[in-house]
Amino acid sequence: MTALTDSWRLADLELPNRVILAPLAGIGNWFVRLQARRYGAGLAVSEMVSSHAIHYRNARTLTELLRIDPRERAYGPVSIQLFGSDPAVMRTAARYVAELGADLIDLNMGCPVPKVCRTGAGAALLDDGERAVALATAAREGSGLPVTVKLRSGRRRGDSSGIELAHRLVEEAGVSAIAIHPRAAVAGHKGGPDYAAVAELVRTLDAPVILSGGLHTAAAVREAFALTGADAVMIARGSLGNPWIFAELLGARDSPPARAEVLSELEWLIERAVEHLGVARATRYLRRFYPWYLERLVLDRRHARQLQCALQVSESFAAVRGLLATAPEAMPTTV
Ligand SMILES: Cc1cc2nc3c(=O)[nH]c(=O)nc-3n(C[C@H](O)[C@H](O)[C@H](O)COP(=O)(O)O)c2cc1C
Repeated sequence: MTALTDSWRLADLELPNRVILAPLAGIGNWFVRLQARRYGAGLAVSEMVSSHAIHYRNARTLTELLRIDPRERAYGPVSIQLFGSDPAVMRTAARYVAELGADLIDLNMGCPVPKVCRTGAGAALLDDGERAVALATAAREGSGLPVTVKLRSGRRRGDSSGIELAHRLVEEAGVSAIAIHPRAAVAGHKGGPDYAAVAELVRTLDAPVILSGGLHTAAAVREAFALTGADAVMIARGSLGNPWIFAELLGARDSPPARAEVLSELEWLIERAVEHLGVARATRYLRRFYPWYLERLVLDRRHARQLQCALQVSESFAAVRGLLATAPEAMPTTV
């Protein structure tokens, strides 16, 4: 039986294991990807980036969202996720991303957000196979890189448009792998994922299948990996504030992080965020991250709430460090 620690081939790339950081909008920048790789992830996919914004050279898109750091590159291939609906625009955006040094392009055909779907991108492509095939072909030809697509099982409950589209993308557009999140787009991120649909795709698709959805603990990941026979797994919400999940899945640790490890990881994040955004923006940016890490500290409810509120209004990292230092030593109970 295949193990998560086994290496595998994705197009012409040799990946060291089958555990991948999923694309996470507003989160999956270079240092979050670097963090996942430090803990062993075999690949980390960027947050979704607008092909339109790249085509029209939006400054922040180019310098921030598309930043690839040499430290993450040192760990191996870099995958950048693009979204869009115009094949000509996708072609030039994909070329730009290839010139920047990406090794893989992932296309988003699963985002259910109305603002994205209204433009014909994301999950709207599940209803527009012709355009989806044209986009994937344009990305492949424009970049000269292998292209993967991340999609949903369908747009509406009970519809299998994503499964059908996966076959077309591989057969007609030469897509190298399909990442599937087997919840209908209308379900957002709620409800149980349909792992039987993934198992069926694995049996019938002539390309690797990467599983996403419901992979929040190491036990859940192992169970779904065995059940579906997928080639690899993508960890999304299960990685928030928990890079240790990668090490656990890869057999590199079996105990949860101690307080000192959690605090030292937060310090690492602060330093990288400052590098990326400067002090003022990093101070605000990291507020979203604190609740995820506080969960690892297993504080009593009252203390957790107080700390949380104080961190959300902290105006400096000196204040943040001072607050974190008040978190008592407590043995967490789960990874
Ligand atoms: C905050 C957040 C941002 C996300 N951003 C993206 C994205 O940019 N591109 C994408 O393909 N999926 C995105 N997703 C979907 C995840 O990659 C993943 O498929 C989904 O969360 C299901 O996995 P989970 O149940 O293990 O979290 C996002 C999910 C969350 C929660």
